[in-house]
Amino acid sequence: MKNKVNHIAIIMDGNGRWAQNQGLKRSKGHEKGAEVVREVTKYCASHKDINFLTLYAFSTENWKRPKIEVDFLIKLLQVYLKKELALYLENDIKFKAIGDLSRFPNSLQDLIIKTQKKTEHCKALTHTLALNYGSHDEINRALKSLNESDLELNIENIQAKLDIKENVDLFIRTGGDHRLSNFLLWQSSYAELFFTDTLWPDFTTQELEKIIEKFTTIERRFGGLK
Ligand code: FPP
Repeated sequence: MKNKVNHIAIIMDGNGRWAQNQGLKRSKGHEKGAEVVREVTKYCASHKDINFLTLYAFSTENWKRPKIEVDFLIKLLQVYLKKELALYLENDIKFKAIGDLSRFPNSLQDLIIKTQKKTEHCKALTHTLALNYGSHDEINRALKSLNESDLELNIENIQAKLDIKENVDLFIRTGGDHRLSNFLLWQSSYAELFFTDTLWPDFTTQELEKIIEKFTTIERRFGGLK
């Protein structure tokens, strides 16, 4: 039987190189990257099996970048979210943001809360942006929260406290590197990993379709035998 892909996670790498290859500023790569986010999100919402798409948009390590690039990414997220609300509602997409959002400007935090509220009834796809997110931080927060509760420390209870509770089926990284970069480490225990040299701004729904097609034919044993 063919595998069904319920949850896709993507590390969208290569925006900077894409821009530099064409003599453009790195920010142009992020702008083009945001357009690709839109196309991939629409595609996943229209796909009958995909229910979750989780994208790494800003890691806990991205604060180390020059302030001008960090400020640009924050502004871009703001512009993007304002513009995307109509698309989310039209395509029945529920928006979510995960990670420690408290370090972002209040205006972005407010916009995130507003977008989450306005789309919470949507059913076709849960589209999550990981912002100031890192797996170690997520697991640390989950353990702290469990420790403060009366719940037993066990795998189910830890998972229930994570920002993302659904296991990842298909984990994709663009941009040529073969690393997980602290993204959804717990949830990807049995994910199928796909690495492509394509830089994120050049990534297309056609390439995604091909990856999904390959995924459906892989034999997944989850540690057992066939
Ligand atoms: C990696 O490219 C990408 C990021 C650090 C940010 C991801 C952001 C986007 C895809 C655009 C904004 C997203 C939304 C949802 C509006 P890089 O800069 O590390 O590229 P490089 O490895 O070539 O330098």
